[in-house]
Amino acid sequence: MVYFGTKLSDAKEYGSIQKMYKPNDDSGILDDAYTPSGSANLAEPAITVTHADGNKSLDLHYISHAVAKIDDNVSMLTVTLKDPAYPFEVKLYYKTFFKEDVTEQWSVITHNEKGVVTLNKFASANLNFKADGFWLKQYHGNWATEMRPEESKLTHGIKTIDSKLGTRANLYEPSTFIISMDKPATEDEGKVLLGSLEWSGNFRVDFELSPEPSNYLRLIAGINNAAAEYHLKAGEEFATPALVYTYSDHGTGDASRKLHSWARKYKIVDGEGTRLTLLNNWESTYFDFNEPKLAQLFKDTKKLGVDMFLLDDGWFGNNHPRNGDNAGLGDWQENKLKLPNGISSLVKEAQANGVKFGIWIEPEMVNPASDLYKAHPDWVIKESGRPEKYFRNQLVLDLTNPKVQDFVFGVVDNLFTKNPQLAYLKWDCNAVIYNAYSPYLKKDQSHLYTDYVRGLYKVLDRVRAKYPKVPLMLCSGGGGRVDYGALKYFTEYWPSDNTDPLERVFIQWEYSYFFPAIASSNHVTDWGKQPIKFKIDVAMMGKMGFDIVVGKLNEQELAYCHEALKNYDALKDIIWHGDQYRLQSPWGNDVASLMYVDAAKSKAVVFNYLVNNRYNAGTKAPIRFKGLDPQKKYSVKEINLYPGTGSVLEGKLVYKGDFLMNVGINPEVNSYHTSVVLQLDAVN
Ligand code: GLA
Repeated sequence: MVYFGTKLSDAKEYGSIQKMYKPNDDSGILDDAYTPSGSANLAEPAITVTHADGNKSLDLHYISHAVAKIDDNVSMLTVTLKDPAYPFEVKLYYKTFFKEDVTEQWSVITHNEKGVVTLNKFASANLNFKADGFWLKQYHGNWATEMRPEESKLTHGIKTIDSKLGTRANLYEPSTFIISMDKPATEDEGKVLLGSLEWSGNFRVDFELSPEPSNYLRLIAGINNAAAEYHLKAGEEFATPALVYTYSDHGTGDASRKLHSWARKYKIVDGEGTRLTLLNNWESTYFDFNEPKLAQLFKDTKKLGVDMFLLDDGWFGNNHPRNGDNAGLGDWQENKLKLPNGISSLVKEAQANGVKFGIWIEPEMVNPASDLYKAHPDWVIKESGRPEKYFRNQLVLDLTNPKVQDFVFGVVDNLFTKNPQLAYLKWDCNAVIYNAYSPYLKKDQSHLYTDYVRGLYKVLDRVRAKYPKVPLMLCSGGGGRVDYGALKYFTEYWPSDNTDPLERVFIQWEYSYFFPAIASSNHVTDWGKQPIKFKIDVAMMGKMGFDIVVGKLNEQELAYCHEALKNYDALKDIIWHGDQYRLQSPWGNDVASLMYVDAAKSKAVVFNYLVNNRYNAGTKAPIRFKGLDPQKKYSVKEINLYPGTGSVLEGKLVYKGDFLMNVGINPEVNSYHTSVVLQLDAVN
């Protein structure tokens, strides 16, 4: 049993916790830390196996545990379990981050049987909870509708969230979840667990509420075992991905901040570093560009005042030019008609304009209309006996095959070797796996979903070994792959192709429960009818970028961009590395508000967005700030003022932290001021 909750003052008393709980459980193993199947356990198991002799019964007994201190903040608890009847072992790993209060949990399975053991199910973690009721917040969506939340009270039986898509696995639902205990948690109150599987493929998270009167919640999370049994040879290790989770008894705000600090320090590449602002050309040109157009875009990048130009899809393919999404994927050579002088001349030209250059790739994929498909049909995941079924006109390469891994690594490596000044990659993944068949795996087809992701991580390991710091954006036709398994290799993610800022307030809000602002790529685009001020103010709550035609901005709009970029430069350190407080939700309110505060509590920024266009919608009451020092005095000023407009706040505002947190400030958001950004500075 694992105890979550307030730290006890006498450590010896932890030993007495278990005997206080009396689950109504005849099997005696319902609250085990990793429930096997085929023996006494008749509830949903964490692990199911078929032994080498065909027997399906597994029993796991505690053998030993060890705690290793990795450093002052991180320690690793390992618990060894063994089957008394078979040479079969599971090690449970709990990597704990004390300051951040975060745990990563996974398991490693091995055996020494005479022959191959089949793993039919192999969860990462199996947690048990006891409370007066459980509420699950989960997410669903699709392209452009990512991260739609739903919260419901868990009833008896099993509730499952899962994916079987193979790649782009989070397209319909991600593995991220929130469980409230006793009552639905709020931002500042309630017992709450935030979790997410660190895996970019099929996942399954079961929430099993055992029957009255025990009412235990059993959470079992891991790789989805659907069509995925794994054959394990004697002596071979099967390591599951980690489930990362954090618990708070002070609501979701505290839990999110813990996850953010952990992610920045321990998971996301360069999470405590800096990021590049950029101009992307996807929506301004789509596939239709050439060198003169790009030369103009480099100038526009400079004129706008951002750090980098990002060239999106459409730059490659010759026999099958990438002029639409139906050809060219796999042929990663510059298109000679569009780019006769190649990428290296683009990098130079961008630099001559004083900006960096980044580029889009989607190296895991292939269009049937490509040289690659013709040269290597055996590199493609498909059922040879069935008609091909495409997703966005493309198929997925078989990353279980080491030759394909070399190829995909080569796509990245060639770009950087030929263009050492290349500053950034956007790595996309736009298809799911239909007709899952790997020519490479032959008889082990059920390994495909697991080994695909392992193959992807092998490639990304090689990329990071050679290019440890280069910024990489994780994109998957929008947010189809936002998870901490992948984010270990990336500096940022693309939340959604939906960049309508009103939609983005909601989408970014929901991602913010699990992922820190520094990793959220928020672009200002033509989506949405709102003015540029609203768009930029929304993009600012993360890593800002643009995908607009700069030439279409009028003088005032361009001046606003410059003003906002100047403010962003001054505040980005707080947004990226500070503590985030969600003040007022966009759901059910006219106005969404959230703020970021620096570690010293001396500087903060508050974003307020109108999310309801009905008559008289706006802030009728003050918004109470959070995370400030009650004793410090702060000046409050509106920033990001559109040229020619004054602040909605009258006079010079200086208030103590306790006033700002108990009474608050009315940011006067309404249909005339649809977004209001406030800067707080501690004053003496
Ligand atoms: C995906 C991405 C977009 C863009 C296109 C290019 O849909 O999400 O941002 O890069 O691919 O084809």
